[in-house]
Amino acid sequence: MKILNTRKIRGHKLSTEKTPLLMLTCYDYQTACLLDETELDLILVGDSLGNVILGYENTIKVSLQEMIIFSAAVKRGAKNKFVVADLPFGTYSTFDAGIKNATKLFQRSAAEAIKLEGAFDHQLKIIKCLTQTGIPVMGHIGLTPQSVHEMGGYYTHGKNQESANNLKQQALSLQEAGAFAIVLECVKEAVATEITQLLHIPTIGIGSGDKTDGQVLVINDLLKMGQERPPSFVQPISDLYTLKKSLISDYIHSFNTADHPITAKKNERLDIH
Ligand code: KIV
Repeated sequence: MKILNTRKIRGHKLSTEKTPLLMLTCYDYQTACLLDETELDLILVGDSLGNVILGYENTIKVSLQEMIIFSAAVKRGAKNKFVVADLPFGTYSTFDAGIKNATKLFQRSAAEAIKLEGAFDHQLKIIKCLTQTGIPVMGHIGLTPQSVHEMGGYYTHGKNQESANNLKQQALSLQEAGAFAIVLECVKEAVATEITQLLHIPTIGIGSGDKTDGQVLVINDLLKMGQERPPSFVQPISDLYTLKKSLISDYIHSFNTADHPITAKKNERLDIH
């Protein structure tokens, strides 16, 4: 299996390719080893690890150090995959900080690219400089969880003309700044489709319909690893939470039955039959 590269990803448009680019999140070494053996195209070490791994309320608390640790662990396992690492909240609020922190994350994690949210002027300048320095950048617009408070919650974007026009403009600006692909999160399907047709780089959708050039999901939602219900746009392919819980309960109960090897041995010692 050949590792993807930005040249191949840039040209992956659904208009010419048979299958969408598939990206899943991953946060640990063992899962990364497993994904490395599959035909998955891309791995994202998302700052969603704040929610699903660290139990934070949102992604705002995730630090650069945490992203470096988890991204490096994933890259050690996923040697043959194109890994993208998320630049966390507050680490690219200014141009200088953005360049310094993105470089640190890229170098220390050994990921192939970084992703950052938003398409305002200062973010576009950071993306331009990073790509010219040799650090590939994936953009991310629509629902950008790091701005949840500024945006006033989690909801679908592009529902009115103004919002749709803004998204189109942002997508074109990200492409112009040098992004090699753009995540469209919770963007109204018709708008996501239009953006996909407008761009020559791929769009990777999440909760944005099935016309984008790629799809990304949080692996914990896809496998239902948590207690809570995954977002409505996810159709889980398993219920790992319930499965693991019942396996562990069975294991615990087996200690209370006389025929469990350890219990049997203990009973033998105590001469209990
Ligand atoms: O952090 C993340 O997992 C993400 C995806 C939801 C796109 O940014």
